[in-house]
Amino acid sequence: MKRRILPLLISSTLAMPAAMAADAGAVLSPVMGEKASVAVWKDDKAKMDAFITDLMAKMTLDEKIGQLDLQSGIMANTGSLVNYEYEDWVAEGKVGSIFNNFTYERAYPLQKRAVEESRLGIPIIIGHDIIHGHKTIFPQSLGEVASWDLEVARLGAEIAAKEATADGIMWTFAPMADLVRDPRWGRVSEAPGEDVYLATKMSVARVQGFQGDDLASPTTMAATAKHFVGYGLSQGGRDYHSTDISEHELWTQQMPPFKAMVDAGVATFMTSFNDLNGIPASGSKYLLTDVLRDQWGFEGFVVTDYTAVNELVPHGYARDDKHAAEIAFNAGADMDMVGKSYMDYMAELVEEGKVSMEKIDHSVRLILEMKWRLGLFEDPYRYFDKERADRDILTAENLELARDAARKSAVLLKNDNAALPLALDDINSIALIGPLADNKKDMIGNWAGAGDRRKQPVSLKEGLEARLGDNVTINYAQGATYAHLHAEGDTSPHVGIRSVGRDVIGKPAHAKMIKEAVKAAKKSDVIVLAIGEEQRMSGEAASRVEITLPGTQRELMEELKKLGKPMVGVLFSGRPNDLSWEHQNLDAILHAWYPGTSGGHAISDLLVGDFSPSGKLPMTFPRSVGQIPLYYNMKNTGRPYNAENPNQRQEHYKSRYDDSPNSPLYAFGHGLSYADFQYGEVKLSSDHLKMDGELTVSVDVTNAGKHAGEEVVQLYTRQMVGSVTRPVQELKGFQKVNFAAGETKTITFTLTAEDLSFYRADMSWGAEAGDFQVMVGTASDNVQRLPFKLVD
Ligand code: NOJ
Repeated sequence: MKRRILPLLISSTLAMPAAMAADAGAVLSPVMGEKASVAVWKDDKAKMDAFITDLMAKMTLDEKIGQLDLQSGIMANTGSLVNYEYEDWVAEGKVGSIFNNFTYERAYPLQKRAVEESRLGIPIIIGHDIIHGHKTIFPQSLGEVASWDLEVARLGAEIAAKEATADGIMWTFAPMADLVRDPRWGRVSEAPGEDVYLATKMSVARVQGFQGDDLASPTTMAATAKHFVGYGLSQGGRDYHSTDISEHELWTQQMPPFKAMVDAGVATFMTSFNDLNGIPASGSKYLLTDVLRDQWGFEGFVVTDYTAVNELVPHGYARDDKHAAEIAFNAGADMDMVGKSYMDYMAELVEEGKVSMEKIDHSVRLILEMKWRLGLFEDPYRYFDKERADRDILTAENLELARDAARKSAVLLKNDNAALPLALDDINSIALIGPLADNKKDMIGNWAGAGDRRKQPVSLKEGLEARLGDNVTINYAQGATYAHLHAEGDTSPHVGIRSVGRDVIGKPAHAKMIKEAVKAAKKSDVIVLAIGEEQRMSGEAASRVEITLPGTQRELMEELKKLGKPMVGVLFSGRPNDLSWEHQNLDAILHAWYPGTSGGHAISDLLVGDFSPSGKLPMTFPRSVGQIPLYYNMKNTGRPYNAENPNQRQEHYKSRYDDSPNSPLYAFGHGLSYADFQYGEVKLSSDHLKMDGELTVSVDVTNAGKHAGEEVVQLYTRQMVGSVTRPVQELKGFQKVNFAAGETKTITFTLTAEDLSFYRADMSWGAEAGDFQVMVGTASDNVQRLPFKLVD
């Protein structure tokens, strides 16, 4: 007899505050505006200046140089070098800031040494990479962006700051705002995706979340805009590789999120590793001084990336470390991360007149000002409250918010035959199969702050068990390895750089795992596959040339497919993978990214239909690695290919591949729902927009389905002719809106000429009169188009 199943709880009201509706808005202009950061920081300038002037008058040159140095502690490994003497250097005043050294037990004594043992008692700043959570881990950054929910991003950062500061950390190296187009690059998992508008909004929301409205509050922290700039386009998707980006591309695509973060009051900037158009970014006076300081008015300090000063030498831009220090510092890099080139050579450089005392004083002042804003001079121990860690970290509330964020971030890529949500009334048993099913360690992704991987994260198996209880039998089998496979005896140098994530092809154990999985599947009504990548396959120093699912996962799925049962894939990964095979063969695919500490619960909530997926892709999923770079806001070319032309012979000499469609497997903005969103006709308030006017774009959206759900209504434009060629589509606005079953809402956007502005041929910022299209829809490849004119 069929057992009774728990009631389905289709929710239309979610635990978190309503999504901040993001209308079209002039967020992209990277031109100089107000000195917004100063307004955000609310400095009592006269008092601060007097204090710092007085302090600096007492400082020796060596003590000043100490403020320019940042060293890594030993609690995490985020680079190739650690100088173990760092604790003594803090006590000697040779180092002004530390990262990778946190918790009350480790950070408080170090601050005490700085305050009590160094001659002037200047407190240190303690930093750490708090990327998507401290101990309560939220979804992997790219996944969080897939929520298209600015409140999710802001709140995630706020909770991260609250937890991190309870562990003595007052500075984070986030948000990362590098725009990305190449899923081979492992760091796409940390990125805000491929679109400049979405990335800008998300980056600002994160800065606001980390910093709050008072940097001195013991629950907020200084944020870092990184990596400035261009790193996201590392050639070939190979980490740390060079970049070559045209001026237009740089300014229209890469710069705006950074400028917007300056305006939002981001405290610090981090330089990027890459060589940009022949000048390594960490030694670029143009970027660090001419743009950042002189054009944008940034008043925080600039830190280099890990040993990036020293790397000017292998870049072929500096003769030796001393020369590198001279270049980077004079370019505008105030603080040297780990590499010691300022510590070792700055005094000599000053003596030789290669670095001016004025410049040293300027950088030292910027750093001391940030210490002041963080409240460290008032109370160096304000971030060291022994009780707070117990009180504020991993609270039930934080775990619930992380669960909600994970639910909102997952993207339903495919859902044929209504395979999802699982029809619990008809299902007695689920075969839960895959290397990521009974798996805790990967759930929190590759850059999970201080997150525990062993106990705390909820696996998918645990999540489903908790939700389904005894009502449904779960037949679990690992089924496959997701390790990189290599031939037995392969001695290629790259095999074995990483101690885990590698395995030998054809091991008998692999065949055995598949057999067990087939057995589990045979006795089950539906197969739920938990597939993807081991978390270390994305992130820093984790580039791949193949982006199909690794290990024996394909072999496993091929065998299971033969059983003819419904197959649902839950994908855990930090990058867009090549899912062509899975798209062909699975009934449904839910992309969970790395969903974080509460991940197993969140994904179960979606699988059983307690909530509907509402994420949309922030990055294009290609059909194969050969299409890369593939992104939605491409140029039209002189020979655009028309896949719809019935006479394909006419399309021969067009921009296309002989062996693949041009189109992606899943486009930017794609994401399905259990709700059924029907778009009415898009209406414009006029067929033209005046340069100083407004154009209203509206559409009725109805949820014609039985499930409640959230939809991200997307607004794009295209300028048909420009003084430089324009993209075929550009995101200009979006709204994430909740719909009850059967509900209709009118969604309205307002467009102005500022929204249509860009860097024109002469590099001036503004709009150009002429023909445009406006597009509204549910994904970049599923829109209605209407023409309008922009008139003088
Ligand atoms: C190198 C990474 O590129 C950067 O993002 C990070 O913040 C630093 N290491 C510090 O861990």
